[in-house]
Amino acid sequence: NLKLVLLLILAYLLGAIPNGVWIGKIFFHTDIRKAGSGNIGTTNTYRVLGPIAGTTVMVLDIAKGTVATLLPTWFHITTVSPLLFGLMAILGHTFSVFDGFKGGKAVATSAGMLLAYNPVFFLIACLLFISFIYLTSMVSLASMISFSIITILSILFHDVYLSIIAIALTIFVFYRHRTNIKRIREGTENMVPFGLGFKR
Ligand code: G3P
Repeated sequence: NLKLVLLLILAYLLGAIPNGVWIGKIFFHTDIRKAGSGNIGTTNTYRVLGPIAGTTVMVLDIAKGTVATLLPTWFHITTVSPLLFGLMAILGHTFSVFDGFKGGKAVATSAGMLLAYNPVFFLIACLLFISFIYLTSMVSLASMISFSIITILSILFHDVYLSIIAIALTIFVFYRHRTNIKRIREGTENMVPFGLGFKR
């Protein structure tokens, strides 16, 4: 039906808003796609433009996933899983119509989807993420490990929809982090100045 299709498109468009790119351009006259790792997400915004811009992008990118996943509840759609709307936002974030169908690595927007769908899993994901950043000082590695563990948890808790989507997203997240994986293997991955892995 038309309402469903329009809301799915809305979820995609919401996800497609390239917060990092736009905040960089509008407030800092900087193209974050041409600086640091070149990624448009929280980590690279923080790296290139500092903590205020980085935190803003994190909140807005998480919010895209959360709002999109809540759309079916707000508009009384019960025929499909809310995860489909979250997935549309993630699709928007990673293949953005406002950014030449390129985009980010799907971490924050997926977290936002999880926040709306299963807040307990979201909290677990945050704790895992922060712990692994502390242990490794690498956001990329912490992201991939957190996605993997949440996938295992959703399988253990028999959430079929979340399991399928989490498996697909984890594969996609690893794929999107392939340059990070190469740097991790070579010992040259960017580190955050926090935690045990960071060498001064
Ligand atoms: O959110 C993406 C993060 O996992 C890695 O970002 O900029 O270090 O490639 P970056």
